[in-house]
Amino acid sequence: MAKRERRARIAFIGGGAMGEAMIRGILTKKVAIPQDMVVSDVSPIRRELLNKKYGLSTLADNRKAMENADLIVLAVKPQNLRQVAEEIRAPSPEQLVLSILAGGTLSKLCQDLNHSCVVRAAPNMPAQIGQGITVWTATAETNKKQKELAQAVLSALGKEIYVADEKYLDMVTALGGSGAAYVFLFIEAFIDAGVHIGLPRSIAQEVVLQTMIGSTCAVEKMGKHPAELKNMVTSPGGTTTEALLQLEKGAFRYHLLEAVAAAHAKAQRL
Ligand SMILES: NC(=O)c1ccc[n+]([C@@H]2O[C@H](COP(=O)([O-])OP(=O)(O)OC[C@H]3O[C@@H](n4cnc5c(N)ncnc54)[C@H](OP(=O)(O)O)[C@@H]3O)[C@@H](O)[C@H]2O)c1
Repeated sequence: MAKRERRARIAFIGGGAMGEAMIRGILTKKVAIPQDMVVSDVSPIRRELLNKKYGLSTLADNRKAMENADLIVLAVKPQNLRQVAEEIRAPSPEQLVLSILAGGTLSKLCQDLNHSCVVRAAPNMPAQIGQGITVWTATAETNKKQKELAQAVLSALGKEIYVADEKYLDMVTALGGSGAAYVFLFIEAFIDAGVHIGLPRSIAQEVVLQTMIGSTCAVEKMGKHPAELKNMVTSPGGTTTEALLQLEKGAFRYHLLEAVAAAHAKAQRL
């Protein structure tokens, strides 16, 4: 009879917004069960909440939490990394550490942790509702099974893409990480524009949100270039071209390109 594979054990260091999102996704997608997971957090309020809500064991001791874990997820704020790295330094060689911290290169993580099996992932804020996009990479020492585990856990946050070259992570931070803020700003301004011309705010919000969702789905499902879809909405001498003229006058595309390039330059400096 074939031997049944042991389920992976996962330790979370930090059970805040992102840690909880991962736990929720992991349980929903049945990547692991509550008995396979443990969370360590300095906050007694978070520990009680995660224990009550998901039935997980919780601890205040990071070192203890990582004992026996196949995967150690770092989900604290970047400013807490130094202390956490000291506490969990030099895990067993077969343990995989997965960091979702903004910034922090693989080489820095390996050095701080004195460990070589490390995954660095760059999720974005909609991951908190399982609609994120996470781009991730791993050190050469990470084996196939560990990569599969990392992929299963990250897919709990939404879509995920593995890249072999770490340089893409700073680019993704500028496009998808900070990008969520550009989209929120656009949505806010778009709703305000509806209110400005006289629509009740609640109607403006519903129209804007469904226009964003519908247009995104159209790009995804219709298999046409965005410019082609835009042209389909733009009749000669009509209302759309009047609006597009104003956006081109304000150099909308130029500013978007400049904004993403500035965020990328900043991510590289961090
Ligand atoms: N939020 C996002 O949308 C987002 C998106 C992409 C990437 N990320 C990355 O994800 C990471 C986590 O973000 P988050 O929004 O989940 O942060 P968060 O909500 O602040 O969660 C972090 C948790 O870790 C706890 N903590 C602090 N120091 C600790 C320590 N020494 N040991 C154990 N636990 C400790 C915090 O407790 P206290 O609050 O009491 O300090 C908090 O409960 C960050 O590094 C961030 O860069 C976040």
